[in-house]
Amino acid sequence: MGAFCGVLFGGCTEVAHRHEEQRPNPYLTSDTRYPIPLSASAGKEHRAVMLQHLETIQVIVNALVEEDYELAKGLTESHLGFFMHRQAMAQQQPEKFPAAYHDLAMAHHEAAEELARVIPTKDLKQILPPFNNLLKACVACHLEYKVRDAS
Ligand code: HEC
Repeated sequence: MGAFCGVLFGGCTEVAHRHEEQRPNPYLTSDTRYPIPLSASAGKEHRAVMLQHLETIQVIVNALVEEDYELAKGLTESHLGFFMHRQAMAQQQPEKFPAAYHDLAMAHHEAAEELARVIPTKDLKQILPPFNNLLKACVACHLEYKVRDAS
C-alpha cells in the first residue's frame, strides 16, 4: 500500500512540476505579463467580451453534451470566430494592443474556426483536439498579457 501511494504521489508531483515549468502562474510566481493600457470603458468592454468567451465555452460544451451539433457549431463561429473579433475590436481601442496580441487573438479565432469545421463530424475524437487547441489559445494569451487601467 505504501509503495502504491509513493508511486501515485511521485506521479502527481511530477505532473505538478511539469505543469509549473510550462505555465508559470503570474499570481504565484513573478508577474511577467505585458500590461495593455486601456481606458476604463475599453477595459470594461474587454472584460465583458472575455466573460462572454468563458460562458460561450460552457454553452458549447453543453450543446455537445446534448448532441446539438448545429448549435455548437453556430455558437463557435458567431461567438469565437473572426466575426466576433471584428465586433470586439470595434469597441476596444485596437491601436492600444501590441501586434503580438493581435497575433494571439487571430490564432484563437483561427482555432475556433477549425473547431467549427469539425463539429459536423459529430465525432468527439475529432472534435476534442481542436477544442483543446482553442483552449490552449485562451491560456497562451492570458500568460502573456494583462489589462492595466490607463484612465
Ligand atoms: C489575445 C488574448 C486573449 C485571448 C485569446 C483570450 N483572452 Fe481572456 N483575457 C485576456 C486578457 C488580457 C485578460 C485580462 C487579464 C488581466 O488583466 O488580469 C483576459 C481576461 C479573461 C477573463 C477574466 C475576465 C474578468 O472579468 O476579469 C476571462 C474569464 C477570460 N479572459 C476568458 C477567456 C476565454 C475563455 C478565452 C478563450 C475562449 C480567452 N479568454 C481568450 C486576453 C485574452
